[in-house]
Amino acid sequence: MAASRATILITGETGTGKELIANAIHAHSARHEHPFVPVHSGSVPPDLLESALFGHVKGAFTGAVASRKGYFEIANHGTIFFDEIGTISLETQTKLLRVIQEREFMPLGSAETIKVDVRIVAATNADLKRLVEEGKFREDLYYRLNVINLALPPLRERKEDIPALVDHFFTKYCRENEKFLEETGRSRLQFEPDAMQILMDHTWPGNVRELENVVERAVVLASQPAVPADVLPEHLLEARGLRIRRDASGRLPSDASLFEIVADYERRKIIDQLEASDWSQTAAAEALRIPLSTLNQKIKRLNIEIRKRSGA
Ligand SMILES: Nc1ncnc2c1ncn2[C@@H]1O[C@H](COP(=O)(O)OP(=O)(O)OP(=O)(O)O)[C@@H](O)[C@H]1O
Ligand SMILES: [Mg+2]
Repeated sequence: MAASRATILITGETGTGKELIANAIHAHSARHEHPFVPVHSGSVPPDLLESALFGHVKGAFTGAVASRKGYFEIANHGTIFFDEIGTISLETQTKLLRVIQEREFMPLGSAETIKVDVRIVAATNADLKRLVEEGKFREDLYYRLNVINLALPPLRERKEDIPALVDHFFTKYCRENEKFLEETGRSRLQFEPDAMQILMDHTWPGNVRELENVVERAVVLASQPAVPADVLPEHLLEARGLRIRRDASGRLPSDASLFEIVADYERRKIIDQLEASDWSQTAAAEALRIPLSTLNQKIKRLNIEIRKRSGA
């Protein structure tokens, strides 16, 4: 679809690569020698957005001491990328619709229309259809933008991409830290299998951006080419099956970490309750006042062996 002129709406959770894909669409189009102009709609104050988009002539408003070209004019023959399109005010939406339909616009304070040839790509992590239903987004604009919908799946639904992405980010950040790496003789980094397993098990609410940060951090912290799980951030380690160390008599060692102490206490509490509930997990979850799904997770994470119920 890159080669066409069609308007594309990219949807997906935060960090799934919407801007990266928008860039790729432009780079693979015949327009690639012309500008790619990103408009971060959410971070431009609403009253400034229109003059940023359409430009203004000198004296159009207080403070307009010189005329200024808008993004649409700058992007002529290229691509304009509307990030967070759902945050644009209804008033600006109306003007945007006009540009899409007429391919022309008037800078603020000007009586002259300017014709442009611009390809439009928009992105959102909001549910635009719902915004339409709530009257916050124009339905006609929605259909104009949504000619082609490119839905980027969250990372947890394409875990098979994780190893390739990890490789890519290792290469990227090893190169960025090249000097540092040469000094310590670290050139090719790789996660140890248990670290990789933790990455595969994580649910990645921050998607590819979160993974990228984890790998960058690992490059900085690693002291050997085989990167162990220890360098992963705490919140990733917490989710994995905990190994609680014990001495010969089954007690926690004297140098037990806070995680081990808390986990051991939690484990004992859960086992006590399961016993009191005759190993009914539903009854135990109720008594502990936590959801059954949470109890199931804890049982797995804390390696609690489920015994048969006496009546069963
Ligand atoms: N397939 C990919 N290959 C390599 N890097 C990727 C890929 N997808 C995303 N990234 C990287 O992940 C980071 C987040 O991507 P991007 O900014 O495009 O996400 P986004 O969907 O626009 O997020 P947000 O909704 O938060 O703005 C960027 O650094 C980007 O380069
Ligand atoms: Mg983005």
